[in-house]
Amino acid sequence: LNALDTNRFGQSMRFHERVESTNTDAATWAQDGAPEGAVVATDYQTAGRGRHGRSWDADPGQNVMLSVVLRPNLDADQLGRVIIAAGIAVAETVEAFVEPHPVSIKWPNDIMIDGRKTCGMLLEASFGRASEGPPSAVILGIGLNVNQTDFPPALSERATSMRLAVGRTLPREAVLVRLLERLEEWYDVAIDGRPVHEAYEKRLDRMGEHVDLRFAGTDRTVSGTVRGVTASGALRLDTDSGEQVLHAGEVTSRSL
Ligand code: BTN
Repeated sequence: LNALDTNRFGQSMRFHERVESTNTDAATWAQDGAPEGAVVATDYQTAGRGRHGRSWDADPGQNVMLSVVLRPNLDADQLGRVIIAAGIAVAETVEAFVEPHPVSIKWPNDIMIDGRKTCGMLLEASFGRASEGPPSAVILGIGLNVNQTDFPPALSERATSMRLAVGRTLPREAVLVRLLERLEEWYDVAIDGRPVHEAYEKRLDRMGEHVDLRFAGTDRTVSGTVRGVTASGALRLDTDSGEQVLHAGEVTSRSL
């Protein structure tokens, strides 16, 4: 990559014109010893995965889709810091290209332009051969809609791309380089134990508003007012029965 100013992120990189899922490919590579910061990128996924078992579909050759191999020395309950850090990094990247359009983060890490989703992320722990103990690697998958202009009718109200915001095609490689630089910087903040929640809360969607969430895979719901995130990236919700702290993966938007 041209003029990539990072120490680790993207310094080892594999590019596939098409692949099942960059997260799957990166997990295999991680088990084979990929260094931290190794990146798998692609133009097209045949079985892209989203959160909560959903699929992630994107037109070929339009977007930035990648997975980064991470080896954070953090307890499982602190992995939310990495999610939060990645959210800030992508938001900053998108902002740099679409200013003055407002960029916000829908917890935990959907990146929104003008209130529509332009990026989703999927963090998966990879345990290698030992199925106990801390993960040997964590795979951070990012699907960023850069130049895609057509979305399925069911999504067209809720999805957008950087190009749709600014009205012109954007240079994908420049977006990728910027993204890897911001990611490395914020990842280092997260693993050093420096604060991430302030930069995140500045961009958090629906701060102070009432939201309805559903516990993933159940019919149980929880409602309350968004107060921000904890230092480890959990959502703080004021409910009728006091403050509840919710972890990413535990809950999903009720309306989606
Ligand atoms: C979501 O919002 O549900 C998360 C979407 C994550 C999509 C990315 S694209 C690159 C990486 N590989 C995958 O299979 N998924 C992630």
